[in-house]
Amino acid sequence: MRTTYMLGNWKMNQGMQDVMSFCEELNLAWNNLPKKALCGIAPQALHLPALKTNLPKDLMVGAQNCSEHLQGAFTGEISPAAIKDFGADFTLVGHSERRQLFHEQDRLLNTKAKLALGCDLKVVFCIGETLEEREGGSTEAVLRHQLVEGLKGISTTPKLIIAYEPVWAIGTGKTATPEMAEETHAFVRQVLAELGHDAASTSILYGGSVKPDNVQGLLACPNIDGGLVGGASLKAKDFLALCHAANNA
Ligand code: PGA
Repeated sequence: MRTTYMLGNWKMNQGMQDVMSFCEELNLAWNNLPKKALCGIAPQALHLPALKTNLPKDLMVGAQNCSEHLQGAFTGEISPAAIKDFGADFTLVGHSERRQLFHEQDRLLNTKAKLALGCDLKVVFCIGETLEEREGGSTEAVLRHQLVEGLKGISTTPKLIIAYEPVWAIGTGKTATPEMAEETHAFVRQVLAELGHDAASTSILYGGSVKPDNVQGLLACPNIDGGLVGGASLKAKDFLALCHAANNA
């Protein structure tokens, strides 16, 4: 069956003091959690070492982004090889903020995903439609396009995780209803199958204003295999509640 994931995306938040208090609080409660789901955090890259040293060892750490190159004269970039070397488990690719604010497009994201998978990282490949696209009835076309182009040349692998994050639900407090999310996840799974992926075994996470009080309804849906969580992953108490829900899903 599919692995359930609960991943925190800290974006450009948390100072070192916050990182250390998060770890301290998490360590106190972690051993009491059942461990069925895989849980992890993607902090700012500079905080990866502190998390890796101070978090419970069975929590994953990951990057929020990686370069489309392995090495060379690319000032400011971080190679997926360096992320793997460091001992991180995963990288996000194609988060909507990368697509929208940094104009990252399908072909680039496809290169990044291929390279990161080649470095043996898990890739959380993010897709999602804008409000305009949903209201204009093009959600399915947009998601299909993002999957077809983004996964070109990538064959089925357990290292590939999809995160469906409707752009209108990210950081807005508006979550897709479980019904709406489930319908879209089922569609995403169907497209993955059409693309030759082992869709039944691919974890598809939901993201967009997931929090402790709406996570259960989402995780109860048959095609939702976990969460990618921004705001609600910043506080240890909330992240623990989310992991707890994932372990019980
Ligand atoms: P949010 O962010 O949970 O704060 O809406 C989710 C994400 O951007 O991955």
